[in-house]
Amino acid sequence: MVKRVDVQNLMVTGGCGFIGSNFIRYLMERADFTGRIVNVDKLTYAGNPDNLKGIEDDYPDRYLFERADICDFECMEEIFSRHGIDAVCHFAAESHVDRSIKDPGSFIYTNIVGTFNLLEAARAHCESFVLFHHISTDEVYGSLGAEGLFTETTPYRPNSPYSAAKASSDHLVRAYGATYGLPITVSNCSNNYGPYQFPEKLIPLIILNAKEREKLPVYGDGRNVRDWLYVKDHCAAIWTIMKSGRRGETYNIGGNMEMENITIVEMICDTLDARKGLETGTPRRELITFVKDRPGHDRRYAIDFTKLQTELGWTPGESFESGIRKTISWYLENSEWVRRVRNNEYRSWISEQYGE
Ligand code: NAD
Ligand code: DAU
Repeated sequence: MVKRVDVQNLMVTGGCGFIGSNFIRYLMERADFTGRIVNVDKLTYAGNPDNLKGIEDDYPDRYLFERADICDFECMEEIFSRHGIDAVCHFAAESHVDRSIKDPGSFIYTNIVGTFNLLEAARAHCESFVLFHHISTDEVYGSLGAEGLFTETTPYRPNSPYSAAKASSDHLVRAYGATYGLPITVSNCSNNYGPYQFPEKLIPLIILNAKEREKLPVYGDGRNVRDWLYVKDHCAAIWTIMKSGRRGETYNIGGNMEMENITIVEMICDTLDARKGLETGTPRRELITFVKDRPGHDRRYAIDFTKLQTELGWTPGESFESGIRKTISWYLENSEWVRRVRNNEYRSWISEQYGE
């Protein structure tokens, strides 16, 4: 088993997104990572430089940003060479299921072609390359009935263009490990929540709408189940796998925290109702609006992460109760971040910065 990973120049793709930015913040504070991070991000609608505010100043010698599209192979190859990239932690993806239903094209390009380009760039630098860690999702396994859990050997059965594209990228990564001997690891994680999540996803959307007393859209009967994991626990799991995971292997990551959507929405309503300064008015549960279901909506996800637990000793640290309280507080206390996201102000900043 590899006990530590000697990475000098780690490329993090999608580092301005939700999990990528949390991961960069997490890694920079760790004593067992002394290398540099090169954050490669296209800054799509989901890429928000505000998520990493302060990082460049705090770590001028250890953090670098490259605005680039992983679909551009020559650009990736040039970044690999210029920065001496010896490892990749690959988050960049189109990540929202609803968008993949309306507009699947960008999911195919970024999630499949983009991943292929990075693998090719890594292959070209194979002699000095330490690790390609690929971030994937439990959605590749499809939908569960009332019983059972996804394990690493559950057959792939993706149901949305998003999960199908992620599944394709997982296969490519595995194939590069098997065929070319590229040192790879893959992790398939359940639903994350926490700071810096773009408010199109269930939890931040409901928190912000409930705060403003706007409608709270719940798809179908609200009884779909997801397995929730606090984002910092996901970051810790990724780093554990990068350091000690067996090369060529896949590890499932989960929170052991199955919840129906409606329960989460009600919990958020009640927490806000009880919060000092927000308690006036009718109960927020009255804002809940059942809307048309998502096509192909997976009923239940639940992860068996025994392999990660027994082999590498990782377990989730945060309970859902404490994680959701922290998360709600974060969105209430970071009003500047919220305002800039809700008014698209960070987009105007990007346009000015890059002369678009
Ligand atoms: P996100 O949508 O918040 O962020 C994606 C980031 O990738 C953005 O910064 C965006 O600008 C960047 N990006 C998109 N296309 C790009 C391109 N062509 N070139 C370069 N950068 C590009 O996503 P997230 O929720 O942080 O998810 C990150 C990864 O984790 C994804 O691979 C996703 O499939 C996976 N994942 C997410 C969850 C979850 O609950 N959010 C759970 C399991 C796995
Ligand atoms: O399971 C991991 C996946 O989790 C990741 O791979 C994806 O990138 C991430 O987006 C997430 O996918 P989901 O589709 O599960 O997340 P989302 O927040 O979109 O929806 C969570 C559940 O809530 C799902 O059952 C749909 C429902 N929902 C969602 C929204 C946005 C609603 O009921 N109303 C809503 O407005």
